[in-house]
Parts: sequence; structure tokens; C-alpha cells
Amino acid sequence: MQIVNSVSALHAQVKAWRQQKQTIALVPTMGNLHQGHISLVKHAKSVADKVIVSIFVNPLQFDDKDDLSAYPKTLDADSQQLGANNCDLLFTPTVEEMYPHGMTAQTTVTVPGMDDKLCGQNRPGHFDGVATVVTKLFNMVQADIAVFGEKDYQQLLLIKKMVADLNLAIEIAGGPTFREPNGLAMSSRNQYLTEQQREQAAELHRTLLSIQKQIVQGERDYALLQQQALERLQDSGFTPEYVDIRCADNLELAKEGDRELRILAAARLGKARLIDNVACNLA
Ligand code: PAJ
Repeated sequence: MQIVNSVSALHAQVKAWRQQKQTIALVPTMGNLHQGHISLVKHAKSVADKVIVSIFVNPLQFDDKDDLSAYPKTLDADSQQLGANNCDLLFTPTVEEMYPHGMTAQTTVTVPGMDDKLCGQNRPGHFDGVATVVTKLFNMVQADIAVFGEKDYQQLLLIKKMVADLNLAIEIAGGPTFREPNGLAMSSRNQYLTEQQREQAAELHRTLLSIQKQIVQGERDYALLQQQALERLQDSGFTPEYVDIRCADNLELAKEGDRELRILAAARLGKARLIDNVACNLA
């Protein structure tokens, strides 16, 4: 596996692969890789000849400076895992390479309608930061396909909308959420939890599954289900931000009669902010 940190070295390799008619898949990450990330790398390898993984802790998407400075950096372990999992190239640009004129001078991308709800509500500027860095990565890599996790469902939909709205020539694939045996969605932020909190944290997923079950059984009072779930999380020691039942394709609040739903939640537990979501498709 090659490791490059400049855009020019990246371009040189991509150009060579293009001349050899190789297809390319990109998996953007912020590092501190776990099995969830690796599952996306495996998916990428199954749909393209070459896999490029980027690791860049993007300051533009952190609304909380302490969160940015605390974000775990484990490049040696990450590159070992990637090397063992068929990644062909690891791109690790510096902040200067990504934002040579500084972040305030950077042209940014806004995805209206997707950036102001759910996680966008409590994290001002977060999704502009995501959309901007992902656009830059797409243009730098020129991949055929990029793979994102359903774990960050709002992010996945935001990127799909951005690609459609801006006619970007790249296909977007989603990979399922990879979980701990107790159901907790894997996340770099889980390491902020104590052993005991990791057990407690699985209650977030159980709460979403319980809503899913009640909807499948015919409950249609979504406001009530949301309220009960917030109380359940509070009683279990979380500080919930939201539990919402929404339309799976545009994230509008779901109404009775909508068939393809997504149940999404964000809650703080101890030092970690956790997010999770599950699908709920009514026949
Ligand atoms: P990061 O949190 O490192 O996640 C990188 C990719 O891994 C995202 O597509 C995310 O949805 C996916 N992922 C994380 N946990 C997962 C899990 N348990 N199962 C499956 N996939 C999982 O998301 C970002 O970085 C950044 O916002 C980024 C897109 C790289 C832009 O900076």
C-alpha cells in the first residue's frame, strides 16, 4: 500500500491507474479506524479495481474545538489495518495541503434542506464542512465510486443530494452500520466511554429497535413514540438530543401513510456524543 500526502503524488498515481483502465473507489475517513470503516474498504474493493482511503481530520466540520483537539489520531495502526485489508493507496493530506489559503478563505459548499435538521441543528456549520471537504476529496481523487456508512445516515443523504445537485461524476454507495455484539454502533467516539458506559450505550440501539417494532405492529402516533423514546433514554442516563421518525429519502418528519422510514437518534452519554439510526420499511 502506498501512502501519499500531497495532491500531486495522488494525481500521478491516479493518472497511471487510469491509463491501465483501472476503476477506483474512494473511502473518505477521519482515521482511528475500526471494523465499521474496514467494512466500507471491503465493499469498495468489491466494486472497483483500486481502493483509495483518505484520512483527514477535517477542522472545517468541527464546531467544537475541544472535540477537534481530542479526536484520536492513530495513523500507524490505521495504515497497518488498511494494508491488511486490500487498500491500495492511503491519502493523508495535511491541513495546509487541504486548505492552502486558510479555512476562512475557503470556498464552501452548502446543501440546503439537509444541513439544518437533526445533527445540523446542534452542530452549526458541521455539514458545510463535510460537504466542502468531500467535494474537494472527490475532485482530488476523481474516483468512479465513493463509499459512505449508513451509520451517518444524514451525511450519506446529504452527499447523495450534493452529487445530484452539482452533477458530480461519481457514484455514491452506502454500507450498513457495523455494530458491537451488544448492538452499539462502532464509532471512534466510543473510546470516550468507560467499560460500563459501553454496555449502557447499547440502550440507544435497543430504543430505536423498539420504536421500529411498534411501528411495524401498527402504532402511528409518531410524536408519542418519539417522546417515549426520549424519556427512556433519559431514564437510562443519556442526555438525548433528538429521536425522530423521518422519511428515509428526504429526512422530512414522517406522516401516517409514509412507507419508507428512518428512525434516527443522537444522545450524549458521559463524554461521548452518540448517533444511531435504523430503517423501517412498511410494505
Ligand atoms: P468518519 O467518522 O471517520 O467516518 C468515515 C466513514 O465511515 C463514514 O462514511 C461513516 O459513515 C463510516 N462509518 C463510521 N462508523 C461506521 C460503522 N459503525 N459502520 C459502518 N460505517 C461506519 O464521516 C466522516 O468520518 C467524515 O465526516 C468524512 C465523511 C470523512 C468527511 O470528513
